[in-house]
Amino acid sequence: MPRKKQPKVWSAEQHTLAKIAMLSDYLQRWFQIFGIASKGENLVYIDGFAGPGEYTNSPHGSPLKAVIAAKTARADSRTSWNAGVIHCVFIEADEERFEHLSERMKPFSGTPEVQIHLVHDQFANGMIRLKDQMPDLFQQTCPKFFFIDPFGAKGVPFATVSDILSNRFTEVLINLDADGIARILRANTSAVYERLLTEIFGDDSWRKISRSSSFSQQCREVLNLYKGNLRKHAQYIFSFEMKTSESALNYFLVFASQHPRGLEKMKEAMKKIDQDGSYRFSDTSVGQTIMFRGDDSNLFSKAMKMHFAGRKVSFEELRDFALNETPFLNPKQMLKQLEADGFITVESSDQRRKGTFNEAKIRSIEFRPET
Ligand SMILES: C[S@@+](CC[C@H](N)C(=O)[O-])C[C@H]1O[C@@H](n2cnc3c(N)ncnc32)[C@H](O)[C@@H]1O
Repeated sequence: MPRKKQPKVWSAEQHTLAKIAMLSDYLQRWFQIFGIASKGENLVYIDGFAGPGEYTNSPHGSPLKAVIAAKTARADSRTSWNAGVIHCVFIEADEERFEHLSERMKPFSGTPEVQIHLVHDQFANGMIRLKDQMPDLFQQTCPKFFFIDPFGAKGVPFATVSDILSNRFTEVLINLDADGIARILRANTSAVYERLLTEIFGDDSWRKISRSSSFSQQCREVLNLYKGNLRKHAQYIFSFEMKTSESALNYFLVFASQHPRGLEKMKEAMKKIDQDGSYRFSDTSVGQTIMFRGDDSNLFSKAMKMHFAGRKVSFEELRDFALNETPFLNPKQMLKQLEADGFITVESSDQRRKGTFNEAKIRSIEFRPET
């Protein structure tokens, strides 16, 4: 929820700079990977809430960082580049910010390899117009990445997000204002707010959020519900928590992809700004010593053991669990611990050494039933 009316260009807080650094890090990998792998396909990046392009304390807002990442990936890949053109689309609703952004983008325009499209509109409406006016951008097989970064809870209908994710080559990173959504839920029961919540979640599942929970518990419920609804449209989902202080949530960045590699790379980018292994960033923790880490593999191997107790599963299923439900990029560290403690039996097509897990050779992993 917008805390106060922002001027045309405002000063970025630490968490905003961290968010842009994470996005930029991921996009460089994304453009490079798809630039090499997607023969002849155009790559499409859409920033639905682009902003003015800069901050009073930083020259690079998300649009500039994205274009720089695109140009860098294109230049670095030289002869190994197989994809077609990179299209970068920026949607901004506010007229003054749109004008400012257009000025800031001028030095980057006019190159055939990285084409810039500026759309002055509301995100949801801009998407409808784009589909109508530039259908080529929405071709099934071209890789697309959407950054959806509103101020607050409004302006991102779930119907638009689910439509975006109906294409299997699409990924999204959404700024989910769980705190703002929880405030709407607490403060209002009018039909207008009921409609707003239904628009945000895509249905009336928000009615399940407990009215009697604490505020911070409600924010978690908002996140979990939103992720659950996204999961109907994407297989790989993970969130990063942005806080203004240790006790004050600001928003979650929620990533959704159809491919394990996408989430792997996003978690690598998230780790770079993460402060304690819990995939979170707090403005007040910048430069502080961390007392406890959130990526204790002991804890997560117990969770994995409980989740799969009594079942025989493939390595892929465990990889998906590790990606979606734990801080890790793969299940190997947790499996190593579980095997050492005698909780799993591994079937492999090669003579494996205990504690090593070659995904190409593992046939199945059987978990002991819980006693
Ligand atoms: C959080 S700022 C974006 C910051 C930018 N993504 C960055 O990282 O540099 C949100 C922007 O969305 C614009 N905005 C607000 N409602 C909008 C809507 N419905 N559609 C598109 N833009 C909107 C605001 O004017 C503001 O510039």
